[in-house]
Formats: sequence, structure tokens, C-alpha cells
Amino acid sequence: MALTIAVLSQKGGTGKTTAVRHLTEAFRDAGLRVLAVDLDPQGNLSDYFDIDPEADPTIGDVLSGRATAADAVHDDVIPANLSLAEAELTLAGKLGRELTLRKALIGVGEDYDVIFVDCPPALGLLTVNALVAADHALLSSEAQYFALQGVEQALEVIELARDSLNPDLNWLGVLLNIADMRTVHSREAFESLQEHVGDKLLVHTVRQSIAYAESAERAISIYDHRPDLGTDYLQVAEELLRRLGLDDARGKVAALLPGAA
Ligand SMILES: Nc1ncnc2c1ncn2[C@@H]1O[C@H](COP(=O)(O)OP(=O)(O)OP(=O)(O)O)[C@@H](O)[C@H]1O
Ligand SMILES: [Mg+2]
Repeated sequence: MALTIAVLSQKGGTGKTTAVRHLTEAFRDAGLRVLAVDLDPQGNLSDYFDIDPEADPTIGDVLSGRATAADAVHDDVIPANLSLAEAELTLAGKLGRELTLRKALIGVGEDYDVIFVDCPPALGLLTVNALVAADHALLSSEAQYFALQGVEQALEVIELARDSLNPDLNWLGVLLNIADMRTVHSREAFESLQEHVGDKLLVHTVRQSIAYAESAERAISIYDHRPDLGTDYLQVAEELLRRLGLDDARGKVAALLPGAA
């Protein structure tokens, strides 16, 4: 069965989608079969992967019970569009609403080694579905004042999912994203997170750069657009693969890093 990793944050714009886009590619380059699930009605991840906006069915159809997860896979992505907002509303009134994604993904679990789920910018029913479907939760945090507060709120939702429907959910870590470690406030965000979450905080951070917005707009990865910046996500991928105990894949990502033999 695939390992499922939900990427979430309490607030919007912390770099979740950008992280899922690049971790998916790095894990694939490491030889893993990876499915990326867009669980945000904004459809940013689908656009970043350059999935045809007309692709059908989508995750909205899967959660509404109109399609299987397997039918909704397009180029190893299950895309989302605004119909997901409607599906979420319909889902809210149903029994077992928190379990819908988990049940749906069982159908593709044998086809993949890893499934990344990109959560929307709210800790609502869709994010709860992701946490109930997941083996691991990865928190994304922007390197800003109040970073800690956002992480603590997201952790409470992880605890809720654990206490009720998914006791095996593991907290994989916190990624400090969109960071400018030359500034005092990014360094302070890192230090205060480290103080509170200890070694759950990933050692590697992702540098802030306008190149990410350009890369998203053109639907090409940062590895192709700015390989010099791409090393950040490769290092994060390596760190995560180590935590996941996927050593073969970790070695392959390490070999892609500059300076590797
Ligand atoms: N390392 C970075 N440096 C600068 N800008 C970044 C970086 N990573 C992402 N961005 C930009 O910040 C914005 C938010 O990123 P992204 O969409 O990945 O965040 P998100 O958490 O998925 O947002 P949402 O909560 O709306 O889904 C985008 O314009 C993106 O291009
Ligand atoms: Mg997003």
C-alpha cells in the first residue's frame, strides 16, 4: 500500500502547493511511483503540473461518489477544480464524511509507493479528509512572525484526527518555507519553532524567491526554471525520505545534489 502524506497549514500561502509539486518530482526522480492529489478547489497544484483544465473526472467527482480515484488519475495527478467546493458542501451532510478520501484512495494504493495530498488553506472538512487518509502529516509554515501559532493550530487538528479516526497518523515534521535566513525575522521564526517542536522542524528550509511565482505561472518546475534554487527542495526531499526510512530513494536524491560524486 502507498504511504500517504498530507501537506497542510493553518493559513493560506505557506507554500504547500509548491512543496507538493517539487517533492512529488524529487520522489519520482528517486524511482518512486508517486501520485499527487489536489485537494484544493483553487486547483493550483493541477495548474502547476500543467494538467488540462478540462480533465475529467476530478477529485470533486471522486468525493461525490461519481468516479473512482483510478478514473480521476491524469498523468499521475488527481486534479481539482471549483467543483470540489460543491462536493465539499454535499459531503458535509453525509455520514462517514471524514472517511471519504481514505476509502477512495484504497483503490489506487497498489499502484503507487507514495501519495501526496495538497490541502486547501483551511483546516476544514477537506483537510480532515486528508488527515484521515494519511499515514503522515507534513506541516508547512511561512517564515514569518506568528509561524508558531499557525503550526500549533494545525497540530491541534492533527491531534483531533488521531484521537478520533486515524490513531496511526504520524507527524512527519514542519517545513519552514519561503524563508530568507539572512533576515532576523526568518531566523527568529526558525528558532522559535525549533524551541517548540524540537527535531520535528526540518533542518533544511526553502529559500524565498520570486522565481517560484514565475515557475508556477509557466507551469514548469523550479528544477528546470532555476536549478540553483531547486537544491532546496532536493535537500528537503532527502530529509523526508530519511525520516520515512526510504533509504534507496534517499540515496538517489542525494546523488542529484551538487557536490555528489
Ligand atoms: N520559496 C518561495 N519563495 C517565494 N515565493 C514562493 C515560494 N514558494 C511559493 N511561493 C509563492 O507563494 C505563493 C503561495 O505559494 P503556494 O501556492 O505554494 O502556497 P499554498 O500554501 O499552497 O497556498 P494556498 O494556501 O492558497 O493553497 C505563490 O505565489 C507561490 O508561487
Ligand atoms: Mg495551495
